[in-house]
Amino acid sequence: IVKKRLDYQAPSYLINEVDLVIELDPTETIITSTLQFETASIPIDTDQHKPAARDLILDGENIKLISITLNGNAFTHYHIEDGKLTIAQAELANLTHFTLVVKNSIDPSNNATLEGLYLSNAAYCTQCEAEGFRKITYFLDRPDVLSIYTVTIIADKSAFPHVLSNGNLLEEYDLSDEKKLVKWHDPFKKPCYLFALVAGDFDKLSDSFTTMSGRKVKLELFVDKGKKSQGHHALASLKKAMKWDEDVYGLEYDLDIFMVVAVDFFNMGAMENKGLNVFNSKFVLADPSIATDNDFFNIESIIGHEYFHNWTGNRVTCRDWFQLSLKEGLTVFRDQQFSADMFSYLATRISQVKVMRENQFAEDASPMSHPIRPDEVIQMNNFYTVTVYNKGAEVIRMLHTLLTTDGFRRGMDLYFERHDGQAVTCDDFVNAMQDANEVNLDHFKLWYSQSGTPRVKVQKTSENGADKLTFTQRTLPTTDQADKQAVYLPIKMECLHRSGSKIDLKLSNDTFVLDSASATLAVSSQDFVPVLLSDFSSPVMLDYPYSLDDLLLIMTHASSDYSKWDASQAFYSALIRQLYDDKDTEVSAQIWRKLETALQQAHDNFELLNEMLTIPSIETLTQGIEQTEPLKLSVARSHFLNYLQQNLHGFLKGIVANIEQQKYEYTKMQVNERRLRSAVLQLLSYSKSVDVKDQLAQQFATADNMTDKLNTLKAAQIYSVELFEKLMVDFEQEYADNAVVMDKWFALHATTNSSDILAKLTLLASHRQFNIKNPNKVRSLVGSFAVYNTEGFHALDGSGYQFLTDYLIELDVLNPQIAARLVTPLIQYKKFAKMHQDLMTMQLKRLLSRPNLSKDLYEKVSKSLAH
Ligand code: ARG
Ligand code: ZN
Repeated sequence: IVKKRLDYQAPSYLINEVDLVIELDPTETIITSTLQFETASIPIDTDQHKPAARDLILDGENIKLISITLNGNAFTHYHIEDGKLTIAQAELANLTHFTLVVKNSIDPSNNATLEGLYLSNAAYCTQCEAEGFRKITYFLDRPDVLSIYTVTIIADKSAFPHVLSNGNLLEEYDLSDEKKLVKWHDPFKKPCYLFALVAGDFDKLSDSFTTMSGRKVKLELFVDKGKKSQGHHALASLKKAMKWDEDVYGLEYDLDIFMVVAVDFFNMGAMENKGLNVFNSKFVLADPSIATDNDFFNIESIIGHEYFHNWTGNRVTCRDWFQLSLKEGLTVFRDQQFSADMFSYLATRISQVKVMRENQFAEDASPMSHPIRPDEVIQMNNFYTVTVYNKGAEVIRMLHTLLTTDGFRRGMDLYFERHDGQAVTCDDFVNAMQDANEVNLDHFKLWYSQSGTPRVKVQKTSENGADKLTFTQRTLPTTDQADKQAVYLPIKMECLHRSGSKIDLKLSNDTFVLDSASATLAVSSQDFVPVLLSDFSSPVMLDYPYSLDDLLLIMTHASSDYSKWDASQAFYSALIRQLYDDKDTEVSAQIWRKLETALQQAHDNFELLNEMLTIPSIETLTQGIEQTEPLKLSVARSHFLNYLQQNLHGFLKGIVANIEQQKYEYTKMQVNERRLRSAVLQLLSYSKSVDVKDQLAQQFATADNMTDKLNTLKAAQIYSVELFEKLMVDFEQEYADNAVVMDKWFALHATTNSSDILAKLTLLASHRQFNIKNPNKVRSLVGSFAVYNTEGFHALDGSGYQFLTDYLIELDVLNPQIAARLVTPLIQYKKFAKMHQDLMTMQLKRLLSRPNLSKDLYEKVSKSLAH
């Protein structure tokens, strides 16, 4: 069942044209698929000097075959076994071109996997990436088989006013009083994972965009009935993305229509199907009364991401799934650039770095560690990971740094010139970058094959009165790879005198390149502090023995706001670590005053000040400690937050007093004000003072927007259980009918530190808005509990681990893809103290012993127990 990257073989058959006729029916949808095959030029088996076997092997899962014809004649000489339909080569001998018609049926109403064709509420929709098309009909379900699609859909007229597929609408007419026929044609060749079909009763928002060459493109956004007013932000974001891609990359949209559909039942964020993006409704629907500032930001970013895939993913796609980062790493990088341009560089970059430090480093340290281009896969869905996506984007970012904006653009241009319309590899991409810039990127390519997080140790030494910095890199062995080599690392940096002035290091672009195990940099000064890894210029862990005073100097004098923030995080981490280690080194009043001074100088930069007042999360802190005791860490962090607010009380109160609440608008300025205010109110909630309570109650009652409402609830959660529970009841009454908002309510409940949390979760799982078949609900309730409820999940009696495991057993039968995502906190057991490890592995073993465990869970659980 393990597939290996190096076993890739080009397809022996191509499918040039696909004609699908789909008669929609909830329990028996009939598919008639007419496939125009061509025999590929014969791949020679080099060992045997004869053509490789070329049986035609089609993929198919959970489908009922009705009949097959070959070139118009009934055909029965096939063989079906383990999800494969095989036609022996002899049956096809001497045919260079042939037509196969496959007729089969499927049952969308019983498809809880949300892969293939399924029902979301009353609407039909599809999800085919990575290997879902095989749940619709027998096919060569692999991304390097590219075809032109014509799709005819027959549906009930009254229930499905909107019947959509990829490309352009050819015709639509009534077949009878009940049924109609709708026909779509996509003129661009595509792999089957980009196929989509949607049928439902939606509200439609329409708009248009005129491309740089003057073509007018229709834009259509489909949302649940009655939610039209919540679609405007997504549509506006789409137009911004279309313009941005033209301006920055010269890339223009290519069809006459672009459609986006929002559905409630969806396994991930969204999907870039050609001309017909399907979105999780939580990444489309927004207005200030139901969506937070973060939701507005995420919608713009994900709309951008899916739109950008039209070139990086669809026009140029992946040869095989091991190359997934070819499109995902690149497209994430592009959406990151877009967000930075639309919103702000600092906040955007910081949130990306948090994802790397909290999630990707954890994945690299876990049994699921893999390179951004994996070598072995059991279930492809398990490789839509922070490594492939986010570390993949960091690798692209390093190329961008190395080649500069202009050089990167030259590489992109050459990539499209060479590969438009093709299915290619990560090497093809790097080669285009290399050839367009006449550089050698052979060493750089190691980033694609090596897993693990490099650690860069920097030491300051002096020799004969001259100071220097010695950089050493080392990547520890990971579970998938024992031997590691030195990678190419751009380290953006500066050095500051104690006085705060900058020392000239004579580095081009302020970047020191470490491309061997160790190297040194001479610094013509003695008493200095290095500011290392500005902008997180490479995805590594940094090790330098900073003193608290060093960090305060950086927080005050670094040239980049990013570095000021980064130093603040190191500063807080160091103090929390002291509390965690029970060192009774009390933080001196002097240190608190210096911290206040450092924060004070950012007083008019709300964006920076907010970031510098945000304390590292438990997950980030866990990464820096071996064999963490999670409960002890949580206590240490809370104590620290309390000391912080005590010692900066006046300063913090001053900040809140200075920010007035205004009528809500999603503007950068207002977002920063709300964030800062909320960060401070959360800190002040540790004081448990009555005036904070009054302030929270008042803010909750008067807030005209979801951001302030939720922020108040989070502060109340810190303040007291009573206040929190009371406000949560009010909140439920107000939003009980809004599914997207209730997800936030479920998540908040799931993260409450209370002794009866498991009983509470069980009760919530029977709430009328909860549904185990809806991934958003499951993620909100069970996912939030396992990831963010430290006290509940890591309870010393193992009850939290057991609860998650019981839930996974139930969920795996319905939706293995989501079950395999939710198991992540358990398989990362190695980060925790022995006692926790034992309790966690006990549950993992229980999972592994289940009969009929899905491939998805099997891959993760077996890997985690094998080492
Ligand atoms: N290509 C989609 C995106 O990143 C995500 C598809 C995820 N598929 C999956 N099987 N998890 O935009
Ligand atoms: Zn993507």
